[in-house]
Amino acid sequence: MMRIGIIGAGHIGGNVARRLALAGHEVIVSFARNEAGLAALAAEIGGAVAKPSDAARADVVVLSVPWGVIDDALRAAGPLDGRIVIDTTNQFGRGGALDLSGRTAARVNAERMPGARYTKSFNTLTAAFQAAAANRAEPERVVQWIAADDAEAKAVTAALVSDAGYVSVDLAGIDNCAVMEAPRRAGAVYGEEYRAADADAVVAAVRAGSPIPPTPVY
Ligand SMILES: NC(=O)c1ccc[n+]([C@@H]2O[C@H](COP(=O)([O-])OP(=O)(O)OC[C@H]3O[C@@H](n4cnc5c(N)ncnc54)[C@H](OP(=O)(O)O)[C@@H]3O)[C@@H](O)[C@H]2O)c1
Repeated sequence: MMRIGIIGAGHIGGNVARRLALAGHEVIVSFARNEAGLAALAAEIGGAVAKPSDAARADVVVLSVPWGVIDDALRAAGPLDGRIVIDTTNQFGRGGALDLSGRTAARVNAERMPGARYTKSFNTLTAAFQAAAANRAEPERVVQWIAADDAEAKAVTAALVSDAGYVSVDLAGIDNCAVMEAPRRAGAVYGEEYRAADADAVVAAVRAGSPIPPTPVY
């Protein structure tokens, strides 16, 4: 059992909170304008409402706010040194996916939280799909890709992805995970359902710097 601090418990963060609470983790939720909604979620999952600075001291911190709110959320969280962070965010602005000048969104965010043990996951599938598809039986179980440079943090995130009811797949490091980032497009896994049987070939292609195989159809 781990203590999980959610910063931004909306569609995605709320689903992660629910899934991990169901799996027996202690979940605290934080950072909302609608405090009553946050309290209702905490009551529903048997968790607690906390300040972002408390969530930031949990064993694992889940950051799940809109791209434009990340700096505010990190300011409210305070230092994340040594913390394992799971970033679920995507780089959307008013006009759609943002151009980050060749940098991955993971790299941009990892640099916004120096000292954190950064991982990225739960970001490629819609919140409704993630909620509906959790806990499927093999072989239909759905992949949640993981990007990280810190092997131990990656392993912890993988275990939590699994606890949440998905297949965890170690895809790439922070700088070569563009295929799991927005926007949805040909040649990327972002926005697409994958199952374990189709994941290895994607990982091999990404490691080789080659185009990934065609998107599977289920
Ligand atoms: N939705 C999806 O299908 C999906 C899929 C994959 C990844 N993502 C990514 O995951 C991240 C979270 O997305 P989401 O859909 O879960 O967002 P969301 O439902 O809007 O949740 C955002 C959370 O942050 C809180 N928050 C606190 N201050 C806020 C502020 N100033 N403005 C907006 N929200 C604030 C919101 O609570 P209050 O509203 O009470 O303030 C809410 O709990 C985003 O980066 C998104 O790109 C989303």
